[in-house]
Amino acid sequence: MVTRKSSREIELMRIAGRIVALAHKAVSEAIKPGVTTKQLDELVEKVIRSEDAIPSFLNYSGYPASACISINEEVVHGIPSPRRVLKSGDIVSVDIGAIYKGYHGDSAWTYACGEISEEAKKLLEGTEASLFAGLEFAKGGNHLSDISHHIQKKAESLGYSVVREFVGHGVGKELHEDPQIPNYGLPHRGILLKPGMTLAIEPMINLGNKEVKVLKDGWTTITRDKSLSAHFEHSILITKDGYEILTTL
Ligand code: MF3
Ligand code: CO
Repeated sequence: MVTRKSSREIELMRIAGRIVALAHKAVSEAIKPGVTTKQLDELVEKVIRSEDAIPSFLNYSGYPASACISINEEVVHGIPSPRRVLKSGDIVSVDIGAIYKGYHGDSAWTYACGEISEEAKKLLEGTEASLFAGLEFAKGGNHLSDISHHIQKKAESLGYSVVREFVGHGVGKELHEDPQIPNYGLPHRGILLKPGMTLAIEPMINLGNKEVKVLKDGWTTITRDKSLSAHFEHSILITKDGYEILTTL
């Protein structure tokens, strides 16, 4: 069931989203060569708890950390570790969720560590552009798959591939609510978008082929061809004539 949030619920989701954005700001300032993914995870947890919120991912289906931190060919769900030391040239996808008074915010961003290649820079810009190409169609009265279709169209027009195994989702009282939102597909399908719906839109885009596999830790997902992958996500509110980004300062 796809719910529409009340103005009180939306206000709480704006606060949860702002807390996620605060954690991202701290991460963006802390990412540099020599930092471990464990240190970044501790920073994320500290920011979230200092705002009276709880990390959404911690213990979710047994996930052991506050953030997912995925480096280079890792697509999503990288587990923070004191043994993972960032080096210059890495691209680092950081996915953060926070729950505030019962409501979740969820947002991911891929950061550059030090100096990255031109190819990597273009992938980050292209993945962010794919997210916003989809969001252009996030609007009351449009179909859900209009978002999906335009994400895919943008990513493929740049020569990249769209990961199929993970999708965007409704967000609110639960981290993952209906509907599921693929980052590919035909336009004009699925439910009609209505004001008050809250959605997490999150393209995962590969430089090479679309195929991925999960490592033996049961979480870390990498590209099969070991090409670079990027992930950009915002939680949004559908409005009458567009959308409002919730996971922002
Ligand atoms: N942020 C992810 C999503 O958007 C969830 C992370 S999975 C978890 O769906 F298990 F780590 F929570
Ligand atoms: Co999400």
